Amino acid sequence: MKRLIHSFQSISLKWRLTLSTSLLMFLTFIIFSFAEYEILYNWLLGQEREAVSKTRDEVAAYYQQINRPFQNTNVRDMENLLLKLNDKHQLIRILDINHNIVISVSNDFPGQLSTAKYPSRDGIEQFQYEGDLYLVAWEHVNSRSFQGTVEVVRNLKSFEDLINIILMIIFGFALATILISIVSGLIISRQYINPIKGLNQAIMRVKEEGFQTRVTETQHDDEFRELTTIFNEMMERVEETFQQQKQFVEDASHELRTPIAVIDGHIALLKRWGKNDPDVLEESLSVCKSEIGRLQKLVLELLELTRSETIENAEITPIPIVEVVEQITKTFAILHPDFTITFNNKTEDKVQTLISKHHLEQIILILLDNAVKYSPYEKRIDVLIQKESDKVFVKIIDQGLGISEVEKNKIFNRFYRVDKARSREQGGVGLGLSIAKRIVEKYKGDIAVNSSENSGSTFIVNFPISK
Ligand SMILES: Nc1ncnc2c1ncn2[C@@H]1O[C@H](COP(=O)(O)OP(=O)(O)OP(=O)(O)O)[C@@H](O)[C@H]1O
Ligand SMILES: [Mg+2]
Repeated sequence: MKRLIHSFQSISLKWRLTLSTSLLMFLTFIIFSFAEYEILYNWLLGQEREAVSKTRDEVAAYYQQINRPFQNTNVRDMENLLLKLNDKHQLIRILDINHNIVISVSNDFPGQLSTAKYPSRDGIEQFQYEGDLYLVAWEHVNSRSFQGTVEVVRNLKSFEDLINIILMIIFGFALATILISIVSGLIISRQYINPIKGLNQAIMRVKEEGFQTRVTETQHDDEFRELTTIFNEMMERVEETFQQQKQFVEDASHELRTPIAVIDGHIALLKRWGKNDPDVLEESLSVCKSEIGRLQKLVLELLELTRSETIENAEITPIPIVEVVEQITKTFAILHPDFTITFNNKTEDKVQTLISKHHLEQIILILLDNAVKYSPYEKRIDVLIQKESDKVFVKIIDQGLGISEVEKNKIFNRFYRVDKARSREQGGVGLGLSIAKRIVEKYKGDIAVNSSENSGSTFIVNFPISK
């Protein structure tokens, strides 16, 4: 049995579905047919028994009420009467007290039957004789003029023929059911297997051709369609992530290449002229130093970006956001005495939010650093904290260059810089905002910008207030 189940499980899904549906249909048919056969068999047999006992009763009644003495002279009349009472395939015998046949009439009755010894009670019985089925009914008559037995024997050949025909029909239908169920099982399973096959092929194609492969969605609005939609959406995301990773590697290597090329150029310069020319030596060394500084910053920021992807919030406890932001703003202001930096708190000091202190400081520093870097003329920065329902908002407002509508969505992308030359001059690598965005989102917050060109920018960060 175990082996049978195992081999059933090892065949293809299509055949498993086909076989199980066919088997189910076949079993249902067989059970119903068997029940039908049983009912029909018993009903038909009942009819036969009724017919036999009816004839027996009629004949017995006749012999009961004869009042003339039973003589050989009226045997012929009796035979004629019995012939009239008799049915097809039926034998009527009148036996005397010693079981000798007195009268025997038959109508198309096959076979010869010897006299049977009957029990004292009247009855009806079924028996087999020379391969044929018979019903026999008898009744003892004990009247004044006659003592003996009335015996009616019915050959059940036509009943058997009918039953055989019914069996043949059932067998034929069973065969047809098997065929129909296999064909319909195949059609049904194909209907279900085809989408799975499509998915299978698509997955194979993904393996061979790459992530751009999609599965064609089925027409029916069913689970398969849902599955293919999910698969396609998943592939879209995988492709997007893959493209982003590719872009990231390209951008990162490009960013790394520039300072390396500059350093390489200056070292070549030093090798040729620098040894003897103190001016070239001085300039090249300072360029190399600043480029190495840029490389260090880039590497650090890249590390920061990777770390921000894997922030674990589990061990973080709520911190007083107002206090932390005020502190970092004050420290920053000391480092930039040419800027007027204000801090404005519009909440109660108790507002707490769930974030690591280091990350909150990092976000504020990134935004303050940008505000300073991209405010060449009006050197004023305002930091504002306010509360709205269950969120706390930190706004960093500058009066700098501003950002155009088109650029607004892009500045949060890695390595994106509006004015490459200017940003590079300022020592920017284009990672600050993408790091900030990633950290903010990890803490279920949000970051946005309000700005238009040449009229300053307002960066707004919000976090859920923790209770
Ligand atoms: N306050 C601002 N005003 C105007 N432009 C800004 C401001 N902040 C950011 N930007 C623009 O968005 C770009 C992306 O900023 P981001 O902080 O990500 O990179 P970066 O400052 O160039 O380099 P990094 O911060 O990695 O040193 C900047 O290059 C700049 O063009
Ligand atoms: Mg920056």
